[in-house]
Amino acid sequence: MIPVILSGGSGTRLWPLSRKQYPKQLIPLVKDQVTLLQDTLMRLEGVEGIAPALLICNQAHRFMVAEQLRERSLAHQGIILEPVGRNTAPAIAVAALHAEALGQGNELLLVLPADHVIPDVPAYRRALEQARVQAEQGRLVTFGVVPQHPETGYGYIRRGAATAADGAAFQVFEFVEKPDLSTAEGYVENGEYYWNSGMFLFRASRYLEELAQFEPEMVDACRQALAQSRMDLDFVRLDETAFTACPERSVDYAVMEKTSDAVVVPLDAAWSDVGAWSALWEVGEKSAAGNAVQGDVILEATSNSYVYAGSRLVTTLGVDNLVVVETADAVLVAEKSRVQDVKRIVQQLVEQN
Ligand code: GDD
Ligand code: MG
Repeated sequence: MIPVILSGGSGTRLWPLSRKQYPKQLIPLVKDQVTLLQDTLMRLEGVEGIAPALLICNQAHRFMVAEQLRERSLAHQGIILEPVGRNTAPAIAVAALHAEALGQGNELLLVLPADHVIPDVPAYRRALEQARVQAEQGRLVTFGVVPQHPETGYGYIRRGAATAADGAAFQVFEFVEKPDLSTAEGYVENGEYYWNSGMFLFRASRYLEELAQFEPEMVDACRQALAQSRMDLDFVRLDETAFTACPERSVDYAVMEKTSDAVVVPLDAAWSDVGAWSALWEVGEKSAAGNAVQGDVILEATSNSYVYAGSRLVTTLGVDNLVVVETADAVLVAEKSRVQDVKRIVQQLVEQN
């Protein structure tokens, strides 16, 4: 089982901490001194049959990624560099082709986004074992999280018939990427829906077979980008022209929504993708008044808030349900329910520059 770590996102909703040049997976956001990327690899240590990881990230982040692996002596078998982001389907395709080229096409790929928080590691490892049984039979496994609230930032998976005893795996009846709020409310009530965690397990060869059926141009472009790649120190640099020409699509749309071989393995591990500041409040340790804080802060008559002080003292008085994030060059003050829209602020910044 080869972990394929996707580390290409920029985490715009966690601005002003997460930046294009310094995205959330490379920041010690939740645990002291451990970045989300490092934590992704550390929680696999000791899993039976796990091979060194293959990482795939944007070329701009190569030294930070390499340094974070070195710092914690995390085993890996390569870092593939994307000249541009083409979303997750091509990133996984390149990893699968890389494995195939090394004669490992039959190996299972454990696709893991580098920016998730999974507090219950034993439960996560149990789900991995259940998924392994399914993937060894040629199925494409997605991990489904029992929804805690009608989140609109996630994809949803409706389960079909069971494919294993004890509710360990189900056929995927349908995939719905990021529904609107009222649809999501219905799904949570229904009980047959899971959040799509964005983690997958399948044989490299099975993924490539399915992708070739639905996205033949993508497979060709990725094959070419890898065939014409060049080594730079320990990095594999994908060919820019070939990879830039690759269609841009997520694995959810390109494969998981379309394949008839998808199964969902339920994951009950307090998982969160910490996509927005409200998720950091949710996973954070809270005071009696419901506040989660990081850094140098003083809160008075403050409740249900998340306060992050990056470089200065931050104080609040008489406020409820706020998110306050302070960094050296920018401050965000937002109502907690509105933080999905931080990306709109980032959009304005991009337009101004
Ligand atoms: N290497 C690489 N290249 N990685 C990428 C790229 C890329 O071009 N684009 C995204 N990633 C990585 C991100 O760093 C992140 O870890 C992961 O792939 C998922 O991408 P996001 O951009 O964060 O996707 P999302 O959050 O909008 O939605 C996906 O994840 C949700 C759960 O976190 C979907 O799979 C949803 O269905 C799912 O619920
Ligand atoms: Mg995400």
